[in-house]
Parts: sequence; C-alpha cells; structure tokens
Amino acid sequence: MILTDLRTQNSGRQYLPQPTTERTSQSPNQELLPLTARVNSRDCLEIGGCDLITLVEQYGSPLYILDEFTLRTACRQYREGFKQYYSGESQVIYASKAWSCLAVCSIVVSEGLGFDVVSGGELYTTLQALEKMGLGEKAGEKIYFHGNNKAVDELEYAIAIGCTIIVDNWLELETLVKLCTMVHKNSIKIMLRLTPGIECHTHEYIRTGHLDSKFGFDPNQIEKVLAYVSQHEQLDFIGLHAHIGSQIFERQPHQDLAGVLVEWMKKAGECGLSVRELNIGGGLGICYTEADDPPSIEEWVKAAAQAVEKACQIHQLPLPKLIAEPGRSLIGSACVTAYTIGSRKEIPGIRTYVAIDGGMSDNPRPITYQSVYRTVVANRMSASCEEIVTIAGKHCESGDILIKDARLPQTQPGDILVVMATGAYNYSMASNYNRLPRPAAVVVNEGEANLILERETYEDLIRSDRLPTRLTNLSS
Ligand code: LLP
Repeated sequence: MILTDLRTQNSGRQYLPQPTTERTSQSPNQELLPLTARVNSRDCLEIGGCDLITLVEQYGSPLYILDEFTLRTACRQYREGFKQYYSGESQVIYASKAWSCLAVCSIVVSEGLGFDVVSGGELYTTLQALEKMGLGEKAGEKIYFHGNNKAVDELEYAIAIGCTIIVDNWLELETLVKLCTMVHKNSIKIMLRLTPGIECHTHEYIRTGHLDSKFGFDPNQIEKVLAYVSQHEQLDFIGLHAHIGSQIFERQPHQDLAGVLVEWMKKAGECGLSVRELNIGGGLGICYTEADDPPSIEEWVKAAAQAVEKACQIHQLPLPKLIAEPGRSLIGSACVTAYTIGSRKEIPGIRTYVAIDGGMSDNPRPITYQSVYRTVVANRMSASCEEIVTIAGKHCESGDILIKDARLPQTQPGDILVVMATGAYNYSMASNYNRLPRPAAVVVNEGEANLILERETYEDLIRSDRLPTRLTNLSS
C-alpha cells in the first residue's frame, strides 16, 4: 500500500492509501497503515476488507483493529529473508511482549515462528495458544524464556515445559543448577544473555545493549560464566543471546553485534562449549510518522545474516542456528486504534484540544516515551486538513496527550479518529488507569472481522477486588 499524501501534509489532504498490485513486496514496517488499507466508496477507511466505521458501530470504541494479512506478511518476510540470506539453519521467534494474546500467538505460530516470553503469564498465554492449535507437544522447542529476575516458580514452569531458558545472571544460573539437582532429572537447555556494549540511537528506556544495562551478564565475566556452565552437567548449553534495543533504524549496530557474538562463540569453544544457536535479539524499527525511515525487514535480515556468516568465516567457526526475535516490526504496523471524538476546547491563540474516548490507558507510549503518532479521520478520508489540533485522552492527567499538533479536517463529536501503527506495545502495556475498561480488539481479513479480545466490563474491573472482613461484618 502506498500512501500518497504522506509527504504532502502541506497540500491539506489526509493520508490516502492507494491500492497496489504487488502488496507482498512491501515491507510492513515501512508503512504507516496496514498493507490492506484503502478508502472505500463511502469515503471511509477500510482495512482487511472491513469498513472501520462499521466495525466501531459493531464492536464499540475505542477498538484495536489488527490486519491479519500485514502480520502474516511480516512473519513471512523474516522467515524467507533468513532462508535467502543465511546458509545455516535459522528460526524467527516472536517477542510476545509486543502483544501477547491467544489470537496473535496462533497466527504467529501458524507462520512457523517460535516465541520469546518474559514471564509466567506470557508463557501461559503462548502455551494455551499452542495447545489450541494442536501444537502443545512442540511448546518446549518453540519457546525461549527470558527475564532479568525470573521467579523460581516461573523457572520451574519453563523447565516443566522444556523451554530453552535464556539465563540472565548468576543467581539464575545457580538456581537452575539447584532445581535440576533437587527436582528435575534431565539437564536444562540454556542460552546465556550477554550485554554486548553496543550503543544505538533510540530512546534511553528501550536501549539494552550498552554496558550500563540491567540485562544480561557483563562481558567482563564471560570466561567465568562459561567455565561455570562447562563444569555443571545439569546445564545443557546451547548458545548465546544479546539484544541491543528497540525501534532501531541503523543496520550497523546489528552487524557489530554479529561480530561481538561470534567472538564470544570462539571463547565458548575454548571452554569446551559449542554454540549451536546464536540469538541476535530484535529491535528493527517501524514507521510511526512519514519522517521515519527504517530499513525493510529484508534489508535488516540480509545485513544481520551476512554479518554473522562473515564473522564465522573469519573465525573459522561452523554456522550456528541463527535466531532473531523481533516484536515491533512484526506487529506494530499491522494494527490501528479507532477512537470516537468527543469534547473540544479552543484556547484562542494557544491551542485547540480535541478529546477522544481513550488515551494513556490504551496507548501509554506517548506519555512514557514521548512517542509520536499519525492519525486520520476515518469517516471522511478525502476531507482536507483545515486545522492543527492536540488530541487529548480522557484521563485525569494533563500529560494524557496522544498526539500534539495533528493536522486534521474540521472534526465533530462522533467522528472516528484512527491512530496508526498501534500493534506493538499498546495493548500489552495497556492499563485500567481511572478504571477504564480495556478496549476490545478484532482481527480483520478478507472482509471478515473476528473479535479476539473482548472489551472489559465494569464487573471485570472489580473482579479481583475484595473487602476486608471487618468491613463486610459491619454491613451485616
Ligand atoms: N528481545 C528482547 C530480549 C527484548 O527485550 C525485546 C524488547 C525484543 C526482543 C523485541 O524488540 P523489538 O523487535 O520489539 O524492538 N515498550 C517499549 C519497547 C520495549 C522493548 C522491550 N524489549 C516501546 O513501547 O517502545
């Protein structure tokens, strides 16, 4: 899908998606709207063959709308990219923290991807999805368990399933040895997460590869860690992992990472440990605005895969199974959020606020990372942009601003505002702040919409609430 008016904001038009015949050749992470976006004869935005206004009438507002075609296309581009540019074995695993729910996990696994999970809850969700897909028995080989402070019961859960555990620190290493000796008979598959000391230009909260990071073993300790692992037969060492950050637009950091990881592979070999799997993490960025210019999925895969091959050649090492674990670039551009416009406040000479029926509880990224989003009025797609307004959320918090200075047509209460590229880290970071029920989500494909997350109800909000017995007694 080519968006004609992306770079013509000054012409006064909203972003208009144009149909194209070669849809799969586009990289979803370089688009602002899902690949199936088009404007229909009612002048409304349509995604996956579904009219967004009709969807909101049917499922309510706010509403997350996930385009299955775009998600599947991104999965395939990663998978096929590795096949094309890497001579060894490869596996793409979905960083489920981007959006973990049964439907997303099911789509992703049906595309042959595995999973990165970081908590018992993500593990449980993924397992449930695999079981529903008849793939429960394969869970162990498909799931990699991450985290910088895994609880003992989370470790036990992951071990029972047979997942690979990506060990982050000494305490975890020692706990695993104890658990294996005392409870489990078989050895435990582990990878070691190391901090590579690579800086990348992204928000400081989503940078993880620099040395001052809470994640992973410090590289100064690598010899000691490898020696410890080689002395404990309870630990079945399968490889190394590093993740340098998120929303990255450069290729160089991952190429550098490949070099560093392969040098560590050599060190592991010197300790008698062979690296069968090398995990280069995720991190490829997406377009949130027309100014964003990430490499395509194919370009990123090519750069990373070739860098690993080259480094292995230099060090004369056999090619390991190469693993990448993207999140944002798989699902970010596949989803939009539809809101209904409500109140308006005009402050002459200062600013006009237009309020919507959601905000920081369904999309906490602007208030957390100052993230910028683009938006359209979906029920009047060809209307010209006549004003610049600030899109405010409905929370009791001045910082609850979804978009500053959005160029929009004149809006009225009841108009449907669609915010683009909300697939990653929106639903998964959503909260019930101000006791707002979390929105519903639908997946759309070829004209059909399916509810994948029900809208929470008021009863859901108090489901876990309990009164202290003293107060209950008083009332009886
Ligand atoms: N692997 C590991 C170990 C990670 O920590 C992450 C993301 C990923 C893979 C996936 O990275 P991606 O391909 O999505 O960039 N909430 C923040 C993003 C936090 C990223 C956390 N880790 C945001 O909304 O921007």
